[in-house]
Amino acid sequence: MPCPEPVLETERLLLRPPQREDYAGWAALGRDEEAMRHLGGTKTAFDSWRHFLANVGSWHVLGFGPFSVIRKADGHWIGRIGPLRPEGWPGNEIGWTLAREAWGQGYATEAASAAADWAFAVLGWDEMIHCIAPDNHASQAVAKRLGSSRRGPGRMPAPHDQEAIDIWGQTRGEWFARRAPRTA
Ligand SMILES: CC(C)(COP(=O)(O)OP(=O)(O)OC[C@H]1O[C@@H](n2cnc3c(N)ncnc32)[C@H](O)[C@@H]1OP(=O)(O)O)[C@@H](O)C(=O)NCCC(=O)NCCS
Repeated sequence: MPCPEPVLETERLLLRPPQREDYAGWAALGRDEEAMRHLGGTKTAFDSWRHFLANVGSWHVLGFGPFSVIRKADGHWIGRIGPLRPEGWPGNEIGWTLAREAWGQGYATEAASAAADWAFAVLGWDEMIHCIAPDNHASQAVAKRLGSSRRGPGRMPAPHDQEAIDIWGQTRGEWFARRAPRTA
């Protein structure tokens, strides 16, 4: 499948597929204990590189993947947000992870709204899910701001199958009926 290289623009952000220059920020995020607390702990440079290339590969093989989020004000990479569906995943996910310096400013909700618009419109998804640890309250708050609700416990594929997660989500119809504002 050809890689469409979409660029989404919101009030404060640009979303585009990951590029080589994003890796330094990606690796720094992987070293941040607090940011990785609900994502299986800190990552070695090797694991970050593999994960980075898995996201690049998702764009090339599937035609979608998490977007790199670029803050328009300074051109900085601030995180990765968007559609993902690794093999064995419990559904079509819109996920979000930001560098700590970008928390508390509404960027996750702004970017995830744009990514959800794109996934429903361009990928034709019928629903989106979010896999969220039961004690990840910041992530649950993003899901709620988007209008998603908790559906119950879920399971990710091995080697993550022992990590407790809840599935949050909403249908395409729910999204378009109650479209989340991008900077609510
Ligand atoms: C989960 C995560 C992305 C949430 O980020 P976030 O910045 O809290 O979420 P949002 O972008 O929706 O921002 C909302 C916050 O910004 C504040 N805010 C400030 N300016 C704002 C603006 N202009 N517009 C909207 N909100 C604004 C809101 O009041 C809210 O703050 P509060 O949580 O103190 O009430 C972030 O905590 C993270 O990356 N965590 C580590 C990785 C992770 O766990 N990912 C999820 C795995 S399931």
